Amino acid sequence: MVATTGSATRDGWSSRSAFILAAVGAAVGLGNLVRFPAEAANNGGGAFVLFYIACIVLIGLPVLLAETLIGRHGQASAVESVEKMAAESGASKMWGGIASLGVLSAFMILAFYCVIGGWVLSYIWLFVEDLFVSGVTGGALTGMTEENIKNLFPALLEQGFTMSVLDLLFIAITVAFVARGVSGGIEKASVWLMPAFFLLLLGITIYGAFEGAFAETIAYLFVFDFSKLTGEVMLAAVGQAFFSLSLGVAGMMTYGSYVSRDVNLAKTSATIAFADTSVALIAGLCIFPIVLAAGLSSDGGLGLMFDVLPHAFQSMPFGTVIGLAFFIMVGFAALTSSISLMEVPTAWAIDRFGFARAPTALAIAALAAVLGVLSAYSFNSLSSFHPLGFIPLFEGEGVFSALDSVTAKLFMPIGALLVSIFVGWVASRQLIDNENGLSGGMHQFWVFLVRWLCPVALTAILIVGIFPSIVGAE
Ligand code: TRP
Repeated sequence: MVATTGSATRDGWSSRSAFILAAVGAAVGLGNLVRFPAEAANNGGGAFVLFYIACIVLIGLPVLLAETLIGRHGQASAVESVEKMAAESGASKMWGGIASLGVLSAFMILAFYCVIGGWVLSYIWLFVEDLFVSGVTGGALTGMTEENIKNLFPALLEQGFTMSVLDLLFIAITVAFVARGVSGGIEKASVWLMPAFFLLLLGITIYGAFEGAFAETIAYLFVFDFSKLTGEVMLAAVGQAFFSLSLGVAGMMTYGSYVSRDVNLAKTSATIAFADTSVALIAGLCIFPIVLAAGLSSDGGLGLMFDVLPHAFQSMPFGTVIGLAFFIMVGFAALTSSISLMEVPTAWAIDRFGFARAPTALAIAALAAVLGVLSAYSFNSLSSFHPLGFIPLFEGEGVFSALDSVTAKLFMPIGALLVSIFVGWVASRQLIDNENGLSGGMHQFWVFLVRWLCPVALTAILIVGIFPSIVGAE
């Protein structure tokens, strides 16, 4: 189904399930695979999981529906869609600024996300090489000493040039899909990669259930420790819910704009949120049996994936094959996310300037590559270059971590906050009612959440992000 506006035919998803796969592909990424399991384990297990699910349902899902409906109504890139809805509601076109901020954030996230994508490529290569050394049946990385393995990640971070090349490679793979358009490129990636991702995730999880410390994992992840659920942890959970659903950067508006009119957005958003949350939970059940069986632990962060896991695969039967499958799976998840991130500025530039798609996508890719290379070198040669060092909040951060912090602490919460205010308070009720696929009590409840709960929660995240000392998080 190709959505049509006026006489011009616009590219779009070929079916509802194509949209679901693409949006789930955007949502499922490094956030689900690395951050969620580590946070759950460290912050009260089942208590955190329950609270996180509440955040997804009560705060994330309402904003997801708000974003997709803005896009679907506008049938244009994010900025134009918001401008259109504002104009039709008698509000200022300045509201388009929400989406402009989103376009900028998506571009900034793209720049550092692809650097991590490059690391994933380097680990895929590591395990491919290891097949020749360790063989298939034994553990992984048998030719390496413990010291070597501990050093893998720090050594990679020292190699600015290698990381730059891998970053460029990951960007090149991303742009190869984005340049081919929505139904011809982005959708194709999602339709092939997401099912493959799910199979790999289930396969490795089942392997872990037999070979790893599964029972221990259940106790580790799902023990209910409500005492660890502090204000700081709760806000981290809300932030994680937003990052995981890819909200606040106009991404879901952009993807929503390719949805045809007959799709029920409320049901579809619920499906997307359900799939994303399931993957986060299963990721915990996939990773920790392997990590705990090796007697390792992690305080979270990227080290869990790039330091602890390779180590854990060493002592597992078929460790090399599983390790390879694992990093290929992570690569698929990261790729469908980076595609969504690149599509946001690409769609914006196509709409705004009337450029053709392929050269636009290439230009965005080139710009992201410049920031990506600076990010890669920010771990080594450029480690003392702090572009935002004059702002106390970002003091001491290199290019990579500044891109992450500015978007996570400021731009994403501001973007999502403004979206909920716009949809809850500014946009015309009737426009929204026609678009959201809800009726009766559910509709009232959604309006309440978007008007009250979401803005309050997002304001809290924003304040604590800017003044961490309020919750003693410094
Ligand atoms: N949601 C993805 C993850 O969990 C990351 C991501 C993709 C994202 N697109 C986004 C985050 C847009 C914010 C906005 O890793």
